[in-house]
Amino acid sequence: MRMVDLILKKRQGLELSKEEINEFITGYVEGSIPDYQVSALLMAIYFQKMTDEELTNLTFAMLKSGEEIDLSKIKGIKVDKHSTGGVGDKTSLVVAPLAAAAGVKMAKMSGRGLGHTGGTLDKLESIPNFKIEVEVEDFFKQVNEIGLAIIGQSANITPADKKLYALRDVTATIESIGLIASSIMSKKLASGADHIVLDVKVGSGAFMKDVESATELSEKMVAIGRLAGVDTVATLTDMSQPLGCAVGNALEVIEAIETLKGNGPKDFTELCYKLTAEILLIAKLAETEEEAFKIIDELIENRSGLEKLRQMIIYQHGDGNVVDDYSLFKGASNIINVTLDNDSLVNISSIDALTIGEAAMILGAGRKTIDDVIDHGVGIYLNKKIGDSVAPGESVAVIYGNGKCEDVALEMIRKAYKYTKEEVNKKNIIIKVVR
Ligand code: URA
Repeated sequence: MRMVDLILKKRQGLELSKEEINEFITGYVEGSIPDYQVSALLMAIYFQKMTDEELTNLTFAMLKSGEEIDLSKIKGIKVDKHSTGGVGDKTSLVVAPLAAAAGVKMAKMSGRGLGHTGGTLDKLESIPNFKIEVEVEDFFKQVNEIGLAIIGQSANITPADKKLYALRDVTATIESIGLIASSIMSKKLASGADHIVLDVKVGSGAFMKDVESATELSEKMVAIGRLAGVDTVATLTDMSQPLGCAVGNALEVIEAIETLKGNGPKDFTELCYKLTAEILLIAKLAETEEEAFKIIDELIENRSGLEKLRQMIIYQHGDGNVVDDYSLFKGASNIINVTLDNDSLVNISSIDALTIGEAAMILGAGRKTIDDVIDHGVGIYLNKKIGDSVAPGESVAVIYGNGKCEDVALEMIRKAYKYTKEEVNKKNIIIKVVR
């Protein structure tokens, strides 16, 4: 195979064979195919797209490039849940304990956050002493014993994807829906679950800005899952405003705990119910969504979801008392109310999620570059969401800061909020489900 022929073939819109894709990935990881040729191929893929068959072959070639996690030592039905990332997205901290409490095995490997979206691992590390690095045998043992673990992703998973992603980042080919689908699915399939539930975010705070592209991405991932023999379902959910009210690590963990106690914000609670229900359905622990919702109601009522979270924290060396005593979390020294400039009663019409995520990041809640150190105590709490009314001088949000960039964050939050005198409908969090 000559790489130039492969580039030409794709440039002409022809389908690449499994062997050609395998050779290209192997050669690229080994270093025998240079970046400039792979860049040209990526651009050809960007314009000509790939069939579901090609994408599945690409996904498998990437997943075979590194370590594959064999979860066969874990007994029971293993389901993985993945979100494409958004502002205030702490669903894993609620959904995984609820699903585990219902009897599903949740052996979850998560990532860190970069830019305006936070990572589940960073949130968990706001719990004093919580360890995300767990030996693989201990990981299996923990999931067998309590049904739940959330740990850091193995560094050896899908090296081809890591190399390709870095190249896509500098060659304007990140936005290829097919390449995003195979990138995400290669990591998910390498993690070894029997079934996958995906949460694809749509809106200003997400990768996918509109429902059409999010639908296309979801359909591609579901197709790859099906061709790989792993049942996959994708929910499309709104990310045009931050999810829930809390943005920032400790604040988000507290909001997740409150949700497990039945006191979560409406949109966030609704999304957690939906995702947990999809997990119970795919694991065949419920036959209908109604039945799944009843199970979840009970798990919240009798606190078994909350106790599952506490168990996981204790197994991973954290302080399990945090679920009762929020003063154990690192806090913030400056608490600043954000008000708007309205001189009469108005209604919130939009809250730009991207700007809120960036404001939280500059306060210290997130990383601009991979080496930045996170302040787990800082963040933003949204008192008002789309459709809420605001009186003059009323607080729409609260900044929790430790002296870093608070003035800039304040201005950013003010700009992120838009209002009108007209009545505004609340947003539906669930847009649709792609099966
Ligand atoms: N997330 C991924 O893991 N890969 C992409 O290509 C885009 C988002």
